Amino acid sequence: MNGGSGAVKNGITDAAISAKLATRKHVSLPEFDITAKVMLVGDSSVGKTCLLTKFRDGTFLSGSFICTVGIDFRNKVVEVDDVKVKMQIWDTAGQERFRSITRAYYREAEALLLVYDVTNPTSFHNVRDWVTEIQESAKTDAIIMLLGNKADLVASRVITTEQGQNLAEESGLAFMETSAKSGFNVELCFTALARTLRELKCGDHAQGKPDGRKSLRSYISQNTSTGGCSC
Ligand code: GTP
Repeated sequence: MNGGSGAVKNGITDAAISAKLATRKHVSLPEFDITAKVMLVGDSSVGKTCLLTKFRDGTFLSGSFICTVGIDFRNKVVEVDDVKVKMQIWDTAGQERFRSITRAYYREAEALLLVYDVTNPTSFHNVRDWVTEIQESAKTDAIIMLLGNKADLVASRVITTEQGQNLAEESGLAFMETSAKSGFNVELCFTALARTLRELKCGDHAQGKPDGRKSLRSYISQNTSTGGCSC
């Protein structure tokens, strides 16, 4: 006897099952498979916010420069070999007065983009201090890439590609030159991070976990052109 309310299986009525299925239809599936926390660091005005905006929205913030206050967050989902990677990108303020705020976030970062400006020698010379700061505060296995930004400013460039490469090698970092203005290497640097983090988080590690920094360097050397910025 089921009193007209439909069949009863394991104490659950057909009506209850239909109601449950109806609710499930409205439950959206997650929009990503893994999360990757990436932090942009480097001196003030080297172009961290512009790199993030170019990658996320495809636009370049030209004109008056508004410095970041403390820290800002943006998300972008990129697909790597059928895995949706939600990149949670933290844009930090380069100014010294915000350093204690931004330092608190290092521990969470899985990857860091350390940016200097190829037209600004001070920003390049400060890279070593940033590396020390990262080593003191970030996870030991965080992957780090050095970016020489504003590669479009050919006439006012003072730091050569070779100098950037040498410094990166000395510190064991992956390296790339970028231009937030022209978009040169912008997509590539973020997707290289997404790809490496995807490999670390969901790859087949039967032969042991890969070295993320090594994987990133090899992916970049295979995918960057040697011709430089044609902007
Ligand atoms: P803070 O927020 O103070 O840490 O600075 P930031 O590193 O975020 O610098 P931001 O992205 O705000 O850029 C500073 C200035 O550099 C702005 O006027 C940008 O328009 C300019 N800029 C950024 N990237 C590039 C680039 O690749 N090429 C050129 N030509 N200008 C750039």
